This record gives sequence, C-alpha cells and structure tokens, in this order.
Amino acid sequence: MRTQVGIIGSGPAGLLLSQLLDLHGIESIVLERRSRDYVLGRIRAGVLEEGMVNMLRLAEVGERMDREGLVHEGFEMAFGDRRFRIDLKKHTGKTVMVYGQTELTRDLMEARDARGGRLVYEAEGVAIHDLDTDRPKLRYKKDGLEHEVVCDFIAGCDGFRGVSRRSFPDDVLRTHERVYPFGWLGVLSETRPVSEEVIYVNHWRGFALCSMRSMTRSRYYIQCAFDEDLEEWTDDRFWDALRARLPHEAAESMEIGPSIEKSIAPLRSFVAEPMRHGRLFLAGDAAHIVPPTGAKGLNLAASDIYYLHRAFVDYYKEGRSDLMDTYSDSCLKRVWKAERFSWWLSTVLHRFPDQSTFDRGIQLAELDYLADSEAAQASFAENYVGLPF
Ligand code: APR
Ligand code: PHB
Repeated sequence: MRTQVGIIGSGPAGLLLSQLLDLHGIESIVLERRSRDYVLGRIRAGVLEEGMVNMLRLAEVGERMDREGLVHEGFEMAFGDRRFRIDLKKHTGKTVMVYGQTELTRDLMEARDARGGRLVYEAEGVAIHDLDTDRPKLRYKKDGLEHEVVCDFIAGCDGFRGVSRRSFPDDVLRTHERVYPFGWLGVLSETRPVSEEVIYVNHWRGFALCSMRSMTRSRYYIQCAFDEDLEEWTDDRFWDALRARLPHEAAESMEIGPSIEKSIAPLRSFVAEPMRHGRLFLAGDAAHIVPPTGAKGLNLAASDIYYLHRAFVDYYKEGRSDLMDTYSDSCLKRVWKAERFSWWLSTVLHRFPDQSTFDRGIQLAELDYLADSEAAQASFAENYVGLPF
C-alpha cells in the first residue's frame, strides 16, 4: 500500500489530522491498535477551547457539537469558605465548549467513514521502518497477515505509550517530566450537574472537580492516592467523599445516582522535544502530557494538528517545507505555556502529601489573590480559554 501521510493512532489527534488532510485533497491511512469500540469506550476530558471549536467547524465535524455542546462563559473556584466565579467572556471575549472527547471521537470517526477514509482498527505491532530514507514505511499485522504502507511522511498520534516517540534515536530526543504524588478518581453518572458551570475545589481533604457532559449527565472527580484500588470505591463512598469537599450549598443540593463509569487517572506533566525527526512528526499525547487540571490535553492535541496539517498542505500544494521545519518550535512554544498553566493550577489546587504549613499558606494566598484581583483573573482567563495558535 502507498499513502502520502501514514498516521499512527485514532485518538482525536490522528482522526482530526486525517480529516483535515482529506479536505485538502491529501491522502492518509490511520492505523489503530485497539478496536473502534474500545476507543469509543474511553472517557476522557470534555472542555474545548474556542480555537479548537472553530477548527472542528472548519473540519466539518462541528454540527453535533454545536447542537449538543454546552457553551460556558465562566466557571467557579472554591477554597476555605470562599467561592468565586471567573468570567471568561468578560475578560477575554471568549467562551469554552463543554463536549466530551468520546462524543468528538465518534463524530470524527463518522466523518471519516462518510468520506471513505481509510482507518485500520486492531492493527497489531505497528512499527516504523526506513525512517532515515525519503520513503519511510509502516508495517503491521492484521488478522494474521503482514501489511506494509509506504509513506511520504508519518504522523505519530499514538498517545503517551505509542511507538512513534520511541522510534526517535536516543541522542535526538530530550524528555522532561514531573509525576504528581496522587491521582484523580472520576465518576460519570446520569444525574443533573450540581451547577450549570464547572467548579474547581481546593479542600484540605483534597481536590474536587464538578463537571458535566450534558444537563442530565455529570462528571465528578476527587483527588485520590495514585495507587488507589478502584474496587474499594463503592458509589456511596465516592459520593460521601465528594460531598465532604464541596461548598456546603453544593453538597446539600447535589443529586446522586449510580455511576456509569468509574476510573482512576494518574497526573503527569511530560514534554518530549523535538517533535519532529526527519519525516516523522509527533502530535498530541505522543509528545506531551499535562495533568487534567485546566483541561488542556485535548486542546493541545488540536493545536499540534493545526500546525501539522498546515505544514503538509503547504508542502503538497505550494511545494514548500518551511512550515515543516518550524513545526516543532511552533508547537513547543504553545505546549510549554500550557504545561506551565496546568502545573501551576495542579500545584495550587491539590493537597500534597509532604505539604508544609508554609506551602498551604502560599496555596491559599494564590487563591485569595485570584479571587480578589481582576488582573489575575484576566491572566487566568486568557490561559483557560486557550492561547492563540
Ligand atoms: N499502534 C497503533 N495505535 C496505537 C499504538 C500503536 N502502537 N499505541 C497507541 N495507539 C493508539 C491508542 O490506542 C489511541 O487510540 O493511539 C491513540 C492515541 O489517542 P489518545 O491517547 O487519545 O491521544 P491523542 O489523540 O493525542 O489525544 C489527546 O487529550 O484529553 C487528552 O489525553 C487525552 O486522549 C487525549 C488527548
Ligand atoms: C471534565 O469534564 O472531564 C473536565 C473538566 C475540567 C477539567 C478536567 C476535566 O479541568
């Protein structure tokens, strides 16, 4: 088989890239090691920056999002006995869209199918060959048969544990990492969200987050130990722990019900640089991870794909390679700023096991300053709605 861009991974990054390339008349094949149902079973974040929303519309996958997504003009924070709102619209003129990554992935898959996109699921042992030539190849096994795809370029959109980043020579790749000493226990339930807007809570017992997928489906998280046993978290235990961390009025009015999904996610900050080696380009979680605080992971994947699709379009339509040459630097500038924001917000909102009374004092001062300062809120809002790309 022959293609222009071989894409590894059918998460949001890989699917969005194949869709945008197709709209510009550029061929691609997406190789995914899991089944379609497995990919659609993963519950991930759900807050889209305005830049990403606009990109999805341009990619012709925004119709259901515009119909069912919830536009949020602000969100709330709570700590100690204070609860305050950050007005995103007032400070930035922008809003965010609450729409689950799972739904977005489904829309992208359907859009690819409708345009006859080539997606191979359950592709085993995907491996990159001949990366040092101008015809790199992807080899994989499917239903017991070996396949080879000869590509002009390869896009590594295969997430943190994929093969693409590991295909970079050791002396080329530099990595930077911070692992946080806790995780997030998340629950999805068919209940009315406790508030119309997202609430981030700093509580001495640990962080809590109230989010949603629709006005009848809630998504809640609480900070937990990173090695927590999920089996030990009954629904009742989860609701009690969540209520104990919420502001009184919210705890009192929260509707509870059976969980329809429950999972634990670790928190990590990670950056790999450069994001390109020869004809291999990394995008999304394959190149960087942010802790979910601030919901930047999915949005960063989208901005990488913005830069990457433009680079390919420029190459195939104009015969120019300068956007390919600047791809890594353009992405990384934005990536590091989102890393800074997510790290800062995680540091301010969580309870750290070794936290001293001084550290706690600084945390509360950060939040007090944010609650009282219009300037701090404007800066925070600018980052929350997403820096330009
Ligand atoms: N071969 C083929 N596919 C692979 C391989 C491999 N060796 N390794 C991983 N994959 C697939 C995964 O199964 C997954 O479907 O690559 C896909 C990567 O998708 P995501 O992990 O969703 O990553 P990405 O598309 O970069 O999306 C950005 O934003 O909200 C955050 O972390 C969250 O997934 C989210 C991310
Ligand atoms: C979510 O809805 O899953 C969500 C919202 C905000 C975050 C992280 C996750 O910061």
